[in-house]
Amino acid sequence: MRILITGCNGLLGQKLVELAPVRHEVFGLDLADQGLVMDGSSYYSGSIVDRKPLLRIAQETRPDWILNAAAYTDVDGAESEKELCWKVNVSGVENIAYVARKCRAKVVHISTDYIFDGKDGPYDEEAVPNPLGFYGRSKLAGENVLKMSPVPYTIARTMVLYGTGKNLRPNFVSWLIEQLRDGNRANVVNDQFGNTTLVDELAAGIWSIVRKRKLGVFHIAGSGIVDRFTFAEKIAHVFDLDASLITPISTKDLSQAAPRPMISGLKVDKAVKELGLKLSNVEEGLFKLKMQMTPKN
Ligand SMILES: NC(=O)c1ccc[n+]([C@@H]2O[C@H](COP(=O)([O-])OP(=O)(O)OC[C@H]3O[C@@H](n4cnc5c(N)ncnc54)[C@H](OP(=O)(O)O)[C@@H]3O)[C@@H](O)[C@H]2O)c1
Repeated sequence: MRILITGCNGLLGQKLVELAPVRHEVFGLDLADQGLVMDGSSYYSGSIVDRKPLLRIAQETRPDWILNAAAYTDVDGAESEKELCWKVNVSGVENIAYVARKCRAKVVHISTDYIFDGKDGPYDEEAVPNPLGFYGRSKLAGENVLKMSPVPYTIARTMVLYGTGKNLRPNFVSWLIEQLRDGNRANVVNDQFGNTTLVDELAAGIWSIVRKRKLGVFHIAGSGIVDRFTFAEKIAHVFDLDASLITPISTKDLSQAAPRPMISGLKVDKAVKELGLKLSNVEEGLFKLKMQMTPKN
C-alpha cells in the first residue's frame, strides 16, 4: 500500500517511518525543509494547514492511508497560541479529511488522554470527553472533524510518549535523564496518574491498524498506571541515576499555564485484543529504551 505520514519528523512520525513494513511505499510530510529520516524523493516539505499544497502532495503520492502524526503539541503554549494550535489540530485535520476523501484514502489520526478531565480515569474508548485546557479542546475538535466526515478513520489515543529519534523536542523521560545526568535537582509531581508509552509500541499499534484495516477508536499506551513521581524514580533506577535528586511536589506548586487531567490513564484492553499488541509495563518500556540508547559495538 501507499502511505502518507504527516508530521514524519516528530517523535511518533520518525518511529512510524522506521517501523514501516517494507512492503509499503511510504511518503512523509513535515514543516522542515528536509526529512530527518526520509530521503528527498519521498519527503515533502509542507503544512497540513495549507489545503491546496496538501491536496497536490496527496494527488502525487496517491495514499491508501494517511497517518496524521502532525500536531501542535505544546500543552501550555496552546493557552496563549490558541489560533496556531487550532489551525494545526483542527483545520489541519479538516484538510486531511478533505484530501483523504478526494484520494479515497483512510485516515489514522492520533489523539490524547487530554480530551478527558482526569476526574475518574483510566478511561476506555467509550468514556465521555471533557477537556480541561485548550490543547485538549483542540484535539477533541480534531477527533470530531473525522467522526463527522465521510472518510473511513481510526483514532488512536495515547499518552506520555517517550522514545529515541533525531533532533526531538524534550519529553519527560529525556528531560529527566538529562537533569539527573547533570546532577541537577528535579521537582516532579506525585498527583498526576496515567500510562507511559514507548513510542515504538504506539507505532506498532498504528501499523497493526493499517494491516488489519481497523476503524474506530483505540487506546494505545503502555500497560499500567503510575504517578509521575514514581515514574521518575523508575527512570532513575533503570538508567542508574541518582533518585535522591528527585523531589515530589504537587501540581498546584508548578503553576503551569494549562490545567492537567490528574487521575487520567487509558484502558488498553481493546488494543491488546483487537490489534494483537504486547504493551510493556512501566519498567519494561524503560528497559527497552535503555537498550535502544546503548551504543552497539
Ligand atoms: N508526546 C506525547 O506525550 C503525546 C501524548 C498524547 C498524544 N500525543 C499526540 O501524538 C501525536 C504525535 O506527537 P509527537 O509527540 O510525535 O509530536 P512532535 O514530536 O511534536 O511531532 C509533531 C510533528 O508535526 C510537525 N508539525 C507541526 N505542525 C505541522 C503542520 N502544520 N504541518 C505539518 N507538520 C507539522 C512538527 O514540526 P515542528 O517540530 O517543526 O513543529 C513535528 O515534526 C500528536 O497528535 C500528539 O497530539 C502525543
